[in-house]
Amino acid sequence: MGTAFVTGAGVRVGSAVARALGRAGYDLVLHVNRSMEPAEALAEELRALGRRVTVYSADLSQPAAVDELGARVRAEHPALDVVVHNAGLYERVAFGSISREQYRTMLGVNLEAPFFLTQVLLPSLRQGTRPLVVHITDIGGERAERGYAHYTVSKAALIMLTRALAVELAPHVRVNAVSPGTVAFPENFGAAEREAILARIPFGREGNVEDVARTVVFLAREAPYVTGQVIAVDGGRSAQL
Ligand SMILES: NC(=O)c1ccc[n+]([C@@H]2O[C@H](COP(=O)([O-])OP(=O)(O)OC[C@H]3O[C@@H](n4cnc5c(N)ncnc54)[C@H](OP(=O)(O)O)[C@@H]3O)[C@@H](O)[C@H]2O)c1
Repeated sequence: MGTAFVTGAGVRVGSAVARALGRAGYDLVLHVNRSMEPAEALAEELRALGRRVTVYSADLSQPAAVDELGARVRAEHPALDVVVHNAGLYERVAFGSISREQYRTMLGVNLEAPFFLTQVLLPSLRQGTRPLVVHITDIGGERAERGYAHYTVSKAALIMLTRALAVELAPHVRVNAVSPGTVAFPENFGAAEREAILARIPFGREGNVEDVARTVVFLAREAPYVTGQVIAVDGGRSAQL
């Protein structure tokens, strides 16, 4: 089937994406920052299905770590078929309080790391079969949300990177974005906050991480003529005023 590289693959959305790609037949290259233990458990689960799995750790807020990760993955995996940039920071900070450090870290993890990882992995992608890059963005990258200026700016830029690379890397490499609404609430969200969000979703409920994973597998396997697109997985939330 081929080989897929997933960042932030130890927990929640990233682990669901990696598991779904593994079940679909891909060998896996898993990246984590802190979640080595769940990633090792996932690797064992997928090895039991006969997949080859390697796990790397890197702090993607550090440019040198991004470069080192990219160089290792490229050297050890000369052909890559799917690259999923899932790792991401999410934090609420009022605009007036966002420090330079918070801004740089947010943009570093959510934008700069995917940008330069794809750049260094291009030779491996070019050796892949119908290769695909997926950015996990957010419907908040196209609509403002109070308290998330640095986060939404990072996702808006990632959406433009999707289109820029789709054009520049065509026809061999496809580049698409999967844009979740609420598929897994942050653990620190209270009941009132959750209810307020659910009230704005036409489906009346949150999605789940498998909804994102299935969309990534669809793009990898069933969408050879789809590139430069942003697919919302949000129960209709972004469709309404
Ligand atoms: N959950 C949702 O409903 C939702 C909605 C819209 C968009 N998204 C997007 O979907 C993606 C995954 O969301 P999630 O909720 O599953 O994420 P999460 O639970 O907040 O976990 C964050 C992920 O990013 C990784 N990460 C954070 N800082 C990092 C750093 N400095 N270096 C390397 N990796 C780092 C973490 O790795 P470790 O755990 O290994 O440290 C973890 O895999 C994100 O891009 C997010 O913006 C999620």
